[in-house]
Amino acid sequence: MSEPADPLERVPAVYRPQVDGILIDRERIAARLDAIAAEIDRDYAGQELLLVGVLKGAVFVVADLHRRLGVPAAMDFMAVSSYGSATTSSGVVRILKDLDTEIEGQHVLVVEDIVDSGLTLDYLLKNLRSRRPASVEVMSLLTKPSRREVELPIRYVGFEVPDVFVVGYGLDFAEHYRGLSDIVTLKPEAYGA
Ligand code: IMP
Repeated sequence: MSEPADPLERVPAVYRPQVDGILIDRERIAARLDAIAAEIDRDYAGQELLLVGVLKGAVFVVADLHRRLGVPAAMDFMAVSSYGSATTSSGVVRILKDLDTEIEGQHVLVVEDIVDSGLTLDYLLKNLRSRRPASVEVMSLLTKPSRREVELPIRYVGFEVPDVFVVGYGLDFAEHYRGLSDIVTLKPEAYGA
């Protein structure tokens, strides 16, 4: 029998020295998205959805979720910037890219990569609700409940994670690591902690 392969061999060699470990691998992400898509199909049976991906972190989540849905869904994106440090958010949000269309009367599902303090999403939800959609719900691949500063209704959660900085599957540090297929933790020195 050969030795089990080092899980970190799945991480591209250029990033491997900065990676501490794999927190959620690509197979678990895929299985969880299968389950969430089935739940969404049940909840929205007979309706049409508008998926609103929050750039840039949610691009992989929204693409992989959309491909699994049976209900008809349109897709749009918003980009927001939060005035915070590199790894924390301040809740003061600026819209860098708005939706292409009006959402009045539509069933909106906001798709997020991670909800940390919740301040960014709180702002976004208030903003979207003011446009009179038929409904607004949230799907977030990850949530860090111990960091939450505002109560938020997240209808579909992929995984709860502890208070550690994670990257991969869309999540970045200084625009690096987004393309990793697994969600990984970094060595503290890799993000200046
Ligand atoms: P919040 O406003 O504190 O909830 O922050 C949300 C945003 O902060 C996310 O959309 C991410 O862009 C970023 N963020 C929070 N935690 C992490 C992390 O662990 N890794 C990468 N980005 C994160």
